Amino acid sequence: MVDTSDEWIITRTGIRERRIASDGEAVSTFAYRAALNALDMAGVAPDELDVIIVGTITPDMPTPSVACILQDKLKARRAWAFDVSAGCTGFLYSLAIADNCIKAGSCTKALVIGTEVLSKITDYQDRTTCILFGDGAGAVILSRERGDRGILSTHLYSDGSCSELLYMPGGGSAHPASHESVDKRMHYLKMDGNKVFKIAVKSLEEAALTALQHNNLTGQNIDLLISHQANVRIIQAIAKRLELPPEKVFINIEKYGNTSSASIPIALDEANRQHRIKKNDLVLLDAFGAGFTWGSVLLRW
Ligand code: ACO
Repeated sequence: MVDTSDEWIITRTGIRERRIASDGEAVSTFAYRAALNALDMAGVAPDELDVIIVGTITPDMPTPSVACILQDKLKARRAWAFDVSAGCTGFLYSLAIADNCIKAGSCTKALVIGTEVLSKITDYQDRTTCILFGDGAGAVILSRERGDRGILSTHLYSDGSCSELLYMPGGGSAHPASHESVDKRMHYLKMDGNKVFKIAVKSLEEAALTALQHNNLTGQNIDLLISHQANVRIIQAIAKRLELPPEKVFINIEKYGNTSSASIPIALDEANRQHRIKKNDLVLLDAFGAGFTWGSVLLRW
């Protein structure tokens, strides 16, 4: 479709494969499957959920939210539900909100999902973006429990001053869908990858170091780093800055590409199923995305 090569993509990004939704599949399709898996693994019934929070920039439609569509599909009748739009940091923002709701005492059980169908907003005539993005979903259940396991701290940031380095101009109230907006390909993600790359590395490093300092830890105390899977070179740069050996860094970008909000929960699930995380391990989550938004979460598994 575009002038590129397998060798360029692998060397510059680390991506070998991606998953792409079929026609007729929307983001709620994947969110639903991930939610069922998480509920099953946690042994929680849908009507025990107090809240459903979905991080996504590719909702089925502007309204209702994916979270409300999901609440109905799951028959989670007691849960209030809403989406969070925070680029690739959507899952960490959602996790932090759920954590705060639980710590404030306003809920006991939360379903938190990161899910995207980026293939439907990817311009397959633009080689600088179309080689990067994939589709998927991941989910977690957070519960209020006694003890020292769980989320230890969350650190969230945003800076809207550079928003046009990574954005989708069409489809909102500024430029509603029209023949002109479609002709100008405004309904696709646009990114100045090289500038975003440099800001992403710096922001991810700062967020990770803040989480460590806040908890009086160093990289040596971390059992696993799960960073947003945008580019393997970005993840390696953060690992180097934190002085983490390869076995303490989870990488699965080769199979999925950049799945935005879905990348961290997919990686968390794979790391768990591969026994890369054990009970009481310290896990550091780190994300950066459109907005710009970024942040980190430190948790004891
Ligand atoms: N195939 C071949 N050549 C290409 C391709 C391609 N697919 N894409 C770009 N090139 C060319 C460019 O035209 C350029 O050529 P030139 O030197 O002749 O001008 C050259 O390759 C280098 O281009 P760069 O943009 O400098 O390449 P870079 O090494 O920066 O890699 C990439 C590009 C992979 C996009 C990288 O910048 C990146 O990963 N950026 C960060 C992405 C990110 O973190 N996004 C945030 C989250 S995404 C979200 O929120 C939805």
